[in-house]
Parts: sequence; C-alpha cells; structure tokens
Amino acid sequence: MAPVPESESQFSSEVYPPSEAMRARAHLPSMEAYRALYDRSVREPEAFWEEQALTQLDWFHPFSKVREYDFEWGQVQWFLNGRLNACHNCVDRHASQRGTQTALIWESDTPGEGRSVDYRELQREVCRLANVLRHHGIRKGDRVAIYMPMILEAVYAMLACARIGAVHNVVFAGFSAESLRDRINDARCKAVITADEGIRGGKIIPLKRTVDEAVMACPTVKFVFVAQRTGNKIPFYPQRDVWLRPAMDAERPFCPIEHVDAEDTLFLLYTSGSTGKPKGVAHTTAGYLLHAALSHRYVFDYQPGDVYACVADIGWITGHSYVVYGPLCNGATTVLFESVPTFPDAGRYWEMVERLGITQFYTSPTAIRAVAREGDEFVKRHDRSSLRILGSVGEPINPEAWKWYHTQVGEGRCPVVDTWWQTETGGIMISPMPGATPLKPGSATFPFFGVEPVVLDEQGREIEGNGVTGLLAIRNPWPGMARTIQNDHQRFVETYLRPFMGYYITGDGCRRDEDGYYWITGRVDDVINVSGHRMGTAEVESALVTHPGCAEAAVVGFPHDIKGQGIFAYVILNAGWEEGQELIGELKNEVRHHIGPFATPDLILIAPGLPKTRSGKIMRRILRKIASEDYGELGDITTLADPTVVEALIEKRKSIR
Ligand code: WT7
Repeated sequence: MAPVPESESQFSSEVYPPSEAMRARAHLPSMEAYRALYDRSVREPEAFWEEQALTQLDWFHPFSKVREYDFEWGQVQWFLNGRLNACHNCVDRHASQRGTQTALIWESDTPGEGRSVDYRELQREVCRLANVLRHHGIRKGDRVAIYMPMILEAVYAMLACARIGAVHNVVFAGFSAESLRDRINDARCKAVITADEGIRGGKIIPLKRTVDEAVMACPTVKFVFVAQRTGNKIPFYPQRDVWLRPAMDAERPFCPIEHVDAEDTLFLLYTSGSTGKPKGVAHTTAGYLLHAALSHRYVFDYQPGDVYACVADIGWITGHSYVVYGPLCNGATTVLFESVPTFPDAGRYWEMVERLGITQFYTSPTAIRAVAREGDEFVKRHDRSSLRILGSVGEPINPEAWKWYHTQVGEGRCPVVDTWWQTETGGIMISPMPGATPLKPGSATFPFFGVEPVVLDEQGREIEGNGVTGLLAIRNPWPGMARTIQNDHQRFVETYLRPFMGYYITGDGCRRDEDGYYWITGRVDDVINVSGHRMGTAEVESALVTHPGCAEAAVVGFPHDIKGQGIFAYVILNAGWEEGQELIGELKNEVRHHIGPFATPDLILIAPGLPKTRSGKIMRRILRKIASEDYGELGDITTLADPTVVEALIEKRKSIR
C-alpha cells in the first residue's frame, strides 16, 4: 500500500466561512461550539455516547455499559445489554407524536406522479408488511434479500425486517442475477422481496426476471414477495411467489415489535474489496442507528419542518443511513428518489427542489458533474430558494464541481458538506458542520463526533502534525462501525484491524493540510471508485476471464471526466482469438452479465503482455499510469521480466479512446 502521491496545487487554499444567516439558526453556530462537543466526544467517549444514546434513542431496556472492545480480535460492542428496536425508533415513536407529518415523499420517475405517506400510514404499512413476513415463517435473525426499485415498498420492507428482528440484505437493483445469487447464498436468505419491474429514466428494468434467474440456484429461499411497480405481465410461480399488495391488505396494521439486543445485526450490505469475493458487511442495531441519526442531525443541520433529500439508491450504504435510518430516526421528512439526474432533462434535481421545497440536498460528485456539463440554464430555470445545505458523498469532489455546486446551485448561500465515509463506517466520519466550519473546496474538513482520524506512514507509524500525507486510519471504535463480515470474521480482522495494530484501516490516502483539514486523495488498494460506486478490480478481472478468448486480465482505474474514475481493462487473448470490435463488445457483455451494467469497462486494451516482475507479480502502478496516459516517470522498470512490453502497451494506449 502506498499513499497516492499528490501535488500541492490540488489542494485549493480558498476558504468559505459560514454565513451569518447559517450560523444564526444552526445547531452548531461556531467552530468553538463544534470543538467543545468534539473534544468531549473523544476525551470522554463513554459519557458523551451514553448521553447521546439516552437522548436520541428510545430503549425498551437500558444498557449496562457503553462500550467494550478489542481491536486485535475485532470484538466491538456498544451499549451492552440494551434492548431497543430500530423500527420503533424510526416509525412508532413518531407515529404517536407527529402522526400526520410527512415521513416519506416518493419522487416517481415521472415528475409529479409521486406520493407521500405520513408517519401513521408508514407505521400501518410497515406493520402489514412485517405481518406478511411473519406469516411466511420469517423470524428474528433470518436474512431477507431486498432487490427493489426506489419505491415506498422498499422502505417498508427494510423497516418491516427491522421490526421483527430479521436481517435485511439490500442488493442494488442494477446487479446481475449472478451477483444477486451470490449475495443471497452467502447470507443464506430465506426470502426475497422484489418488484415486477423497475423504471429509471423511462427505462424498464426487469427485476422479477432477474430474481427468478438468481433464485433457481438459491436453496435457502422459500418465498419471493413481489410488489407491483409497472403492472406489466411477468412470470409468476404460485408455489413460491407472493404478490405483496394483496398479502399486505389481508394483514392487520399492527404488529408486535421485537425487542432486540443493541448488538443484534440490523442488516448486511455487500461491498467490494480488493479480492474477488464481495464482503457482507454487518451492522448492528444501536450503535449504527445512533451514528446515522446523530450525523444526519448535525451534518445536515436537520430542523423540524425541513424537507430533506438524499438522492442515493437504497442499494448502497448512503441510502441506508441517509435516506432511511438517519432521517426517520430523527422524525424527518425524507425523499425517496426513483429517477436519474438527467431525466427528463438535466434540470430534474432543481425542478424537484422547487416543487417539493427541499431544504437539504445530498448527492454525489458524479451527478453534479453530469448535470453541470449540460449548462447553468437548467439550474437557473428553477427556484432554489428553499435550499439551505448541499451535500456531497462517494468520491473526492474536485474544486471545479464543488464551486459550481456552491455558486450555481446554492447561489453562494448554502454550505457544501463534503462527507467522507464508507460502507464499513456506517455513517459520516469526516465532514464540515454547516454553521461552524470554514469550507475549503475539495476538503472533507474535520472529523465527526467520536471519530479520531490519524495519518499513518507505510510502516503504520502515526505521522503527527499538519501538512502531512499518508494513509487514513481511525483510532478507537465508534458506534456505527461494522462489526464483522458475514461468514468471515477473519477477513474482517485482517482487512481492517490487523494491517496495523490499534487502528481501523480505511484503504484511503489522505493529506492533513497546514490548517489540519483532511483531504481524501482516493483508494490506495485495488479498489476503484466509479461514479461513487466501489468496485473491486479483481471482480471485473474474474468476469473478463470467463470469456473463452480471455487468457488473462488486469483492471485499473483511470481519470474520467464524469465518473471520477473509469474502468480500464488490459486483456491478453488466448491463441487463435482475433482482436476486433466484436470481441471487445463480447468482453464488455461478459462483465455486464456477471456483475451488472455499471461495472462495464470503459476501455479495453488487447495487450501483447503485462508488465510482470520476474516473480510474476503484475506491476499495477505501471498499468495505472499507462491507462491514465501518463507516460513520464514510470519508475524503475528494470525489474520486469520483459521491459519491452511497456513500450508496446504505450503504443497501443495511444491508439484507443
Ligand atoms: C469509499 C467508500 C460512503 C458512501 C458512499 C461510498 C470514497 C466516499 C468520499 C468523499 C473522498 C470519498 C472513499 C471511500 N469516498 N466519500 N467525501 N471524499 N472519497 O461508500 O462504496 O463504501 O466507498 O468511497 O474512497 O473509501 P463505499
């Protein structure tokens, strides 16, 4: 692992202090206010988190100890022996206190065709769905896969699982049948909840058909529950399939709540690592929920009456923490966005902001770049005066995109909170506080409460002071951290905790500048970040080599104007295979079929050979440079088994785009 070397010029020195208007109403109106709370959270973590847990969450049975941990063995517990329920905290307590307040606004793919549900209706629907699950034998601890479009039933399904203590495993609806099957089997899911079809940007996505294909080889799946989104005719197997709506209508709108332990698993979410097999990241109940809720409250400065929108898909962690659990735990009104940023045109987000009166808007740098390049007209056309805070997540945001977002979208009024975190961290780890932090475009700024970031050198020694670059790690556990990897605790410990004792290793490189601001520079492992989606290069490689023509593949990221990183594949052909457009198309299809369309390589280079050391190790550093058309300073290539291959690859690279 080596920190990505960065030039100083990448780090902008402009500073944007919070406005008076922002400070006047924010939870944290100054850096002093932030620091006071932050310092307490790391100096007296137990007292701080005890207080937060008691004020933010409802408990059925009090916890007896705030935390206990052992990083060496990856044993982390928060709020020991406490009993609670995430669904109660997100739904029931609000249904009784503010039942007629809007909980969810479903923003349909077709603008204006959505609808809203208040907390009381949310409670009834979640209870009905929970009863359907119970009456099909789903019990506490059972795993349930959710493969859904962004419709209300998707949220009902997550909360219904939480209500009965079942563990949900949401799989992004863009994954292939094969990826879905692997995730269902690894988690041994008893049921799948899906929809007939999805619609995104006017395009139909055949979800049920994909589930049918996946489940053929899933022996643990007893039932497939099917919501109707399009109503089109789909295959239906009455032995196994259950139409969700009539089943829910047949149930009572009350369902007992399971009192689960603070450390009972709330959900699994699969994510890519640097080896081929995706990992089922496990989050438990109390710590996760508290981290999601508290960070939502402070980072988005959530206030009653706000209409908060995070446009992420629930198939990713951002959707879990900041569409569903964080906002609902705070009793907020949260938007469920079914569409894409450019449908029907590049003004979709801002038209929605105007129509719904959105106060906080949270998206990814990719989406910002995609709409920015269509021109400012699409923004100006709509009234954005309701907006107070803009958020960014998923990948480093380049200062140009940051400034466009801040100036054009936010009219210079709205702080941009660039939030750094990961599937494994459960919630936001480094982010500005809107009323407190002077912003620097491109920097995630300072840590959230209870988070102690450190910069390590390659030997795992802490680099003290400011103006330093290295590996980003976290000292000490925080409540929202993942507890294990499903079926593979060993991998959990080895990936995150064992590389350097006493730290959680993030896999990202970072710089702490002269003022102590954190700048995330990107992954230092074989993980790439495409449009804010994490992808293991090894996964793409294994998909490519299933093609009979492919002898060997090496995949790297390269800079991409919109996606942040694109996928670049070097492929070595088996004897007898001819290079050509048709073959390139087949190779791309192979990836689409095995993983999903979003993993399709942008460029494929049919290579005469790969730069390998004499011991056979591929020198990825060289492949990354060539893919990025950065041919200077390739470093020492004399250790290569065949140094001439580098020249040949460069020549080839120049001929493709
Ligand atoms: C990786 C985690 C957590 C939500 C979505 C992605 C990158 C995430 C930022 C940011 C720079 C960021 C990191 C991280 N990342 N947010 N604000 N600035 N990089 O979750 O799929 O688990 O990916 O996304 O490289 O390690 P994920």
